[in-house]
Amino acid sequence: MRTKVAIIGAGPAGLLLGQLLHKFGIDNVILERQSPDYVLGRIRAGLLEEGTVALLDEVGAATRAHAEGLLHEGIELAFSGRRHRIDMKAATGKTVMIYGQTEVTLDLMNARKAAGLTSIYEAADVEPHDFDGGHPRVTWVKDGVTHEIDCDFIAGCDGFHGISRASVKPPAIETFERVYPFGWLGILSETPPVSHELIYSNHARGFALCTMRSMHRSRYYVQCSLDDHIDQWPDDRFWDELKRRLDQKAVDQLVTGPSIEKSIAPLRSFVAEPMRFGRMFLAGDAAHIVPPTGAKGLNLAASDAHYLSVALREYYDEKSSAGIDAYSDKALKRVWKAVRFSWWMTSMLHKFPDTGTIGARIQLAELDYVTSSKAAMTSLAENYVGLPF
Ligand code: FAD
Ligand code: DHB
Repeated sequence: MRTKVAIIGAGPAGLLLGQLLHKFGIDNVILERQSPDYVLGRIRAGLLEEGTVALLDEVGAATRAHAEGLLHEGIELAFSGRRHRIDMKAATGKTVMIYGQTEVTLDLMNARKAAGLTSIYEAADVEPHDFDGGHPRVTWVKDGVTHEIDCDFIAGCDGFHGISRASVKPPAIETFERVYPFGWLGILSETPPVSHELIYSNHARGFALCTMRSMHRSRYYVQCSLDDHIDQWPDDRFWDELKRRLDQKAVDQLVTGPSIEKSIAPLRSFVAEPMRFGRMFLAGDAAHIVPPTGAKGLNLAASDAHYLSVALREYYDEKSSAGIDAYSDKALKRVWKAVRFSWWMTSMLHKFPDTGTIGARIQLAELDYVTSSKAAMTSLAENYVGLPF
């Protein structure tokens, strides 16, 4: 087998990159470890920046998002028993869209199918080879048989635990990491959202977030201990804890119901530098992770796919390596700003075990500042709706 770009991973980064390359006439093959149903069953992100929606538009995969996605013009920050609205539309002229990652993935999968592009699911032992030389290839095992594909480039879009980044050894790669001392326990329920906009709550018992997937389906998160297991969190305990972290009006309006999904996610900031190793590029979670507080992970995967697709188009159409040479620096510039913003939102909103009462008071001062100063509010809004790319 031969292709121009072998893409490892069929998450948002790999699928979007595949469609963007296809639009530019660059053939590509996707290799994915899991089955399509498994990939679609992972409940993750829910908030898209305008730039991400524009990329879905560019590849003709945004029809359903425009019909079913919910446009939000603001968010609420809750602390000291009150909620304060940040009007993002007024501050930036931009909105964000609530539309689940599962739906984005399904729309991109369908676009790929319609275009007749090759995707190999349930590919075991995927391995990138010889990306330092001129003839990279990828091998994998399917149904007990080893296969190989030759390519011009490899795109490592295989998430944080993937094989692409793991195939590069120091000193060629440098990594930066912070692991936070707590996790997020999330549930999905077939209930109307407590409020029409998202509520981010700073509370003495820990952070809580009220978000949604539609006007009939809610997503709620509470900060939990890293030692917690979902078996320790029956639905009643979850709803009880969420209520304790919300203001009275929200408690009165909250509609509870059985959870249809429940999971715990650890929080981490992580960046690998550079994002290019010879003829292999990293994109999305394969190269960087942000804590979910700023809703940036999926949106960074999308901007990486954009930068990489444009760089590869320049390589094939203009016979110039300038784009691929600049890819890593360009992508990392935006990545680090999202890392900073996600770290800052996380620091302002969570209960930290080691910062004591002074840390909690400083958080309240920061929240008071952010919700009362036009300059601070605009800064938060500008980052939240997504920096330009
Ligand atoms: P992934 O989605 O991880 O996809 C990688 C793919 O590669 C997977 O399908 C995997 O099976 C495959 N793979 C892995 N290893 C191999 C291998 N060896 N061989 C072949 N295939 C392999 N982001 C936001 O922007 N907004 C949000 O609101 C938001 N909320 C979140 C909430 C939670 C609870 C969590 C956990 C994350 C959230 N994120 C959010 C982050 C977002 O989900 C990720 O950043 C996004 O999935 C990254 O996409 P990706 O394609 O880079 O990686
Ligand atoms: C969602 C998740 C987030 O981390 C966030 O900041 C906003 C929304 C969500 O799952 O909808």
